[in-house]
Amino acid sequence: MSPTATAAPLVQARNVHKSFDQLEVLKGIDLDVMPGEVVVVLGPSGSGKSTFLRCINHLESINKGSIEVEGEQIGYRLRRGRLEKLSSNGIARQRRKIGMVFQQFNLYPHMTVLQNIIEAPIHVHGESRKDAVANARRLLDRVGLAEKADNYPRQLSGGQQQRVAIARALAIRPTLMLFDEPTSALDPELVGEVLATMRDLAKQGLTMIVVTHEIGFAREAADRVVFMDGGHIVEIGKPEEVIGNPQHPRTQAFLSRFL
Ligand SMILES: Nc1ncnc2c1ncn2[C@@H]1O[C@H](COP(=O)(O)OP(=O)(O)OP(=O)(O)O)[C@@H](O)[C@H]1O
Ligand SMILES: [Mg+2]
Repeated sequence: MSPTATAAPLVQARNVHKSFDQLEVLKGIDLDVMPGEVVVVLGPSGSGKSTFLRCINHLESINKGSIEVEGEQIGYRLRRGRLEKLSSNGIARQRRKIGMVFQQFNLYPHMTVLQNIIEAPIHVHGESRKDAVANARRLLDRVGLAEKADNYPRQLSGGQQQRVAIARALAIRPTLMLFDEPTSALDPELVGEVLATMRDLAKQGLTMIVVTHEIGFAREAADRVVFMDGGHIVEIGKPEEVIGNPQHPRTQAFLSRFL
């Protein structure tokens, strides 16, 4: 779905800096993501892609700049005109808006698929079991796994497990989904089914930031592509611009590996 010109950005990152001790990993990232937009982030290993995603849902705190999601600054609140660090409750409340899917799906092995999906809605967000189960079944249907509700993760393929992980992330009803190389741990023949699920979500208007090396997915599903290198956004634009006609030598060099 294309973002509308009048809407406010769902994500607004301003001059985001992040260091680990002496190592500066993010060196001033600015990015607006509009509601319904799909932004794909490309870049070489170590360029700061995962760190940036982790800053958006405050798995990492930032050293400078700000990140707002739905107009709320992540990790802080404004009190009597001053920014104050949020309590762990406040952070948990903000994270409720943000679903995250990782390379390693990390499903709970001792729980069934359905139990994996209803766990956070019931125990973290206080949903009734009845509502959580109904929502989980709807989500399993959406990722094409309705018949696997009572299976254990070990009984599923990697692609199916990742689709369960996507359903689990969606179960908290996020307004923003972050994907960090969701297909990188999969056998090549299983990548397609996970990308298809993600394409469906994109078509349904979910706002998504996706770190991936799947250039084909970026070309087809992204509204905009970001190329990161060395902690900077080097190039940003429509897929036909950044992938089809990259302007920066570093983008060109990176993409030449995929030809
Ligand atoms: N918790 C941490 N402590 C110290 N250094 C870290 C930490 N997390 C990441 N880094 C460093 O920050 C830099 C960027 O890492 P990041 O994981 O964000 O890169 P990336 O672009 O996601 O790379 P990849 O494509 O390999 O996943 C790397 O040099 C990494 O070693
Ligand atoms: Mg990474």
